[in-house]
Amino acid sequence: MEQTFIMIKPDGVQRGLVGEIICRFEKKGFTLKGLKLITVDRPFAEKHYQDLSAKPFFSSLVDYIISGPVVAMIWEGKNVVLTGRKIIGATNPAASEPGTIRGDYAIDIGRNVIHGSDSVESANKEAALWFPDGPVNWQSSLHSWIYE
Ligand code: PPS
Repeated sequence: MEQTFIMIKPDGVQRGLVGEIICRFEKKGFTLKGLKLITVDRPFAEKHYQDLSAKPFFSSLVDYIISGPVVAMIWEGKNVVLTGRKIIGATNPAASEPGTIRGDYAIDIGRNVIHGSDSVESANKEAALWFPDGPVNWQSSLHSWIYE
């Protein structure tokens, strides 16, 4: 089953949006396979965002991510990478549809509350970086009510 890496950024934690965000993924039917509250240092944040190192916003993005604790998660389910991105909404909250997390709770791109992997390949790489011991292996008893 597909997995994705989701991170509630420091603004989402500070604003008390953790429960609301987890609720949306749980109610959709996805399964939580990893969860931790963690403050990361600059080298770690730079590694997570290494593909963006040439972007003009790279250092402000890293400053933002290390500014407080984040909630790192692994979620599992059919098409969870793509569907997770739909639940999150467009990167720039100005373009995010109402009903998405960013559409409902964010205004500026540099404070967009949440990160979600953009492909299965990135998801595997990011999950391995944030959860070196791997996901927690358990099976939801609701599976037969979620999948046909
Ligand atoms: S890009 O330029 O197309 O590669 O960027 P994009 O895929 O849209 O976004 C990648 C991540 O960079 C963040 N981002 C920014 N942060 C701060 N300021 C500005 N201007 C900015 N533009 C993009 C964006 O939120 C994405 O972060 P994650 O955590 O991956 O969602």
